[in-house]
Amino acid sequence: MKLASRVSRIAPSPTLAMTATAKAMAAQGIDVVDFSSGEPDFDTPDPVKAAAEAAIRAGFTKYTPSSGIDELRQAVIEKLEHELGLRYEKPQILVSCGAKHSLYNLAEACFEAGDEIIIPTPYWVSYADQAILNDATPVLLPTRESDGYAINVDDLRKAVTPRTKAIILNSPCNPTGATYDRQTLEGIAEIALRHDLLIISDEIYEKILYDGATHISIATLGPEVAAQTVIINGVSKAYAMTGWRIGYAAGPKNILTAMANIQSQSTSNPCSISQKAAVAALKFGGPFTEKMVVEFDHRRKVMVKRLNDIPGITCRMPSGAFYAFPNISGILGQRGPNGPIQSPQAFADHLLKQAHVAVVPGEPFGSLEHIRLSYATSMDMIERGLDRIAAAVKTFSA
Ligand SMILES: Cc1ncc(COP(=O)(O)O)c(C=O)c1O
Repeated sequence: MKLASRVSRIAPSPTLAMTATAKAMAAQGIDVVDFSSGEPDFDTPDPVKAAAEAAIRAGFTKYTPSSGIDELRQAVIEKLEHELGLRYEKPQILVSCGAKHSLYNLAEACFEAGDEIIIPTPYWVSYADQAILNDATPVLLPTRESDGYAINVDDLRKAVTPRTKAIILNSPCNPTGATYDRQTLEGIAEIALRHDLLIISDEIYEKILYDGATHISIATLGPEVAAQTVIINGVSKAYAMTGWRIGYAAGPKNILTAMANIQSQSTSNPCSISQKAAVAALKFGGPFTEKMVVEFDHRRKVMVKRLNDIPGITCRMPSGAFYAFPNISGILGQRGPNGPIQSPQAFADHLLKQAHVAVVPGEPFGSLEHIRLSYATSMDMIERGLDRIAAAVKTFSA
């Protein structure tokens, strides 16, 4: 059977693939330290689980409205009004099966052949593949480590062409941990308004911030900016609910209606029980997130220090999310026991095979100089994993 040609243009998610390999090794009894996974190691908070149990007991186990239950859409509306001062009506909110699904619905609703989608790099792995799956062309816009990965507004201006349809923002950013400041966002908004670009603002890590960093949603810069922005968010990261699969989108009514129609013809509603759980997360999850972030902060500092202690590795302190994104260019070109380490992929392969540490290489994020490590894992794992990486690097020669 001949597959559709679009399938040959994408690859499976490399982060999920690395996590699956690490899990398979662990299942064989190998003691793997897994820094690849993009999920909090905390358990879902009890009030959230209780809401799900109550939903099951009450028989809330049938189809729901395709776009999500009113109670959850209302909770999202209240959150956005309370936290960002933005007012949305119910048709402007769509609940989907995770933020990744929200992004996919949006790509399907808005992108088509000939469209260019600007993606600042380093970027989260699925943005480009989702654009490609919907016949659009990803246009990668490099940002610099020396600028703290801020988008250079002049570079953005130059990247815009008559075909540019959208720009995807992700603050705090996976993988860099960078957060965008107001001035940068204002510059981006000005360009988006001038060229009538859709702004896709992926805010899934908005609550995971350190050192007093604040989250600014570009949609808050004015009603005309909000009218061109779709906010993407969800409960996976803030409330340790990755497996429950609830994300949501908020934005202009015509776009959200199109996305809702696509969802009604594809997945229908997200899991009914998870929706009830998500209502509880949005209402009662705040203190849980705060505690989790205090712990992440602690781990962040240990991981970044230990990475910087390894010769050949330098690591910026991330201001958000839960990833360290060390620069390994000082290691590239060195000889390992099995040959030269020429790329982040080669370094990641070496670490997995020889040191039993799973990290994600930079290539799928658009970097040839970095690897990504998640510190959403225990302090013990962080110490053990970094011991192993340091020992592995010691065996390299120039
Ligand atoms: C930047 C970013 N956006 C979206 C998602 C998808 O989140 P969800 O689990 O809600 O689909 C992730 C998950 O890793 C992410 O890192």
